[in-house]
Amino acid sequence: MPRRPPKKPDPALDLSTHLLALADLPTPLDPDTLFPRAAPVELEVGSGKGLFLSTACTARPDRNFLGAEIAGGYARLCAAKLARLQAVNARIIHGDATYLVRSMLPDACLAGIHVYFPDPWWKARHRKRRVLSEIFLQHAGRVLPAAGQLHVWTDVEEYFNESMELARATGLFGAPREEQPSAAEHDLDYHTHFERRTRLAGAPVWRAVLERNDRAAVCERVEPSAHPDSFGPGSASEK
Ligand SMILES: C[S@@+](CC[C@H](N)C(=O)[O-])C[C@H]1O[C@@H](n2cnc3c(N)ncnc32)[C@H](O)[C@@H]1O
Repeated sequence: MPRRPPKKPDPALDLSTHLLALADLPTPLDPDTLFPRAAPVELEVGSGKGLFLSTACTARPDRNFLGAEIAGGYARLCAAKLARLQAVNARIIHGDATYLVRSMLPDACLAGIHVYFPDPWWKARHRKRRVLSEIFLQHAGRVLPAAGQLHVWTDVEEYFNESMELARATGLFGAPREEQPSAAEHDLDYHTHFERRTRLAGAPVWRAVLERNDRAAVCERVEPSAHPDSFGPGSASEK
């Protein structure tokens, strides 16, 4: 489905509390330091228009929610939603979530990771851009403690099956359990903006949650200097 450019948020809205730039954050990054109140932190990878972040932070005041969004326009839109809610337990980072997870986050620092409708990158030569790669899933296992949860929802069956197989191959997760969609009586009842689009179009969605087991992680945090030039906090887009 084609994507329209995001709306510009009200320029009078102060986004400085809710919008963070990946390039300005320290490495390693303790995510607890981004919130005024201590609580388990859950990360959403690719927050888009921010429906999940804004509903989750309202429904679960006992948790802190951190989004990472590579497109600047969407990150700002998301921050505007959080600013309007005056959310104390949600922040959005403008930047590459794969860099954040691989190079910045310390071991076992998150209670959950949410990946909803990641871009499928259909063309073979673009496949390496998929967020749910072998390396990302190994690091997802590294930053989640035992019993931490990884949620994966997508409308692309092949991507879903591939990522479940890659997660299984890490040896760090239990078997995927199917998650159920909520009844949607209202536009905002959907889990994410893409979930709404997909369900309203009558297309299927694959949903799973995987629980981190207690095996030791299979990788270490990748020092930023070890990355190839094309990979780093500066690769965020201004879209
Ligand atoms: C198909 S959209 C889904 C958005 C939202 N999760 C939803 O379900 O409505 C994928 C989003 O992931 C973002 N994205 C893609 N690669 C990313 C990355 N490496 N880091 C952070 N965000 C990324 C895109 O900019 C886009 O907003």
